[in-house]
Amino acid sequence: MKHFLDIHTTDASDLRSMIDQARSMKAARDGRPKGTHDDHLPLEGQMVALIFEKPSTRTRVSFDVGVRQMGGQTMVLSGSEMQLGHGETIGDTARVLSRYVDLIMIRTFEEATLLELAEAATVPVINGLTNRTHPCQIMADILTFEEHRGPIAGKKVVWSGDGNNVFNSFAHAAGQFGFDLTFTGPETLDPEKVFVDGARARGVKVEIERDPFKAVKGADLVVTDTWLSMHDSQSAQERRHNQLRPYQVNAELMRAAGDQAIFMHCLPAHRGEEATSEVMDGPQSVIFDEAENRLHAQKAVMRWCLGV
Ligand code: CP
Ligand code: NVA
Repeated sequence: MKHFLDIHTTDASDLRSMIDQARSMKAARDGRPKGTHDDHLPLEGQMVALIFEKPSTRTRVSFDVGVRQMGGQTMVLSGSEMQLGHGETIGDTARVLSRYVDLIMIRTFEEATLLELAEAATVPVINGLTNRTHPCQIMADILTFEEHRGPIAGKKVVWSGDGNNVFNSFAHAAGQFGFDLTFTGPETLDPEKVFVDGARARGVKVEIERDPFKAVKGADLVVTDTWLSMHDSQSAQERRHNQLRPYQVNAELMRAAGDQAIFMHCLPAHRGEEATSEVMDGPQSVIFDEAENRLHAQKAVMRWCLGV
């Protein structure tokens, strides 16, 4: 069973093939109306369930459109409207859905929920974000980086802000794609050690630098994310904001990075908090290419899962 649960548990050469396939599928659609099918319909006759236990715009729409472009059909399910939200176990949900659909994508809270679903399902499962990781996002980010700056191997990626689920998947990707990663943020919001150590064990440089201006020097990519993730308690907002304010990505920080650096944010953003509109809408920003590439990258991920 080819589940897409995390970047570090997926074979590096398979990850590379998915990025390359995403690029060629994107090129093949150049100029086509969005609602038209691809020339090749690898998901024809296939049914995909998209389960959301948290809000989503990009993941929801890009998976839905991607399946349809490849000739498949989707159903978008809200966790709270399923029996899953009313006491049915994730294992039983997996066993039942596997009788109806060919592929399951889930966005959930606990990583354990994703793993239990994958364990019990008899069809492939894709991680559409958990509290700990967001691998589909990082596949789109690699595709986007390479479109703008060429191969990511050996490049320097700097994360400024909260050591969260999106950072964690960057750390997984650093080991698999061979780029260096610098985290800059307050010590209280450092990423879990296991993600940093895991990347280091794969031979890439992972640095923690408290000074954001030192951290971004020579960066090829500067990336940030919301200061309060969907699983974080609202009551932590003020404390987090106070700690994270020095790590805002603004014009001064991008100048310190240099012209070679591009800027990414997985979105949704809180403009004026983790990044200014000047940066988000500025010449170094590739955030909307990044959002578009969720579609192309995930189409390749789904094909890999289904072997089509
Ligand atoms: N980046 C991302 O996953 O966005 P959504 O929450 O809108 O799906
Ligand atoms: N870190 C954010 C990413 C949203 C796409 C969250 O988990 O809410």
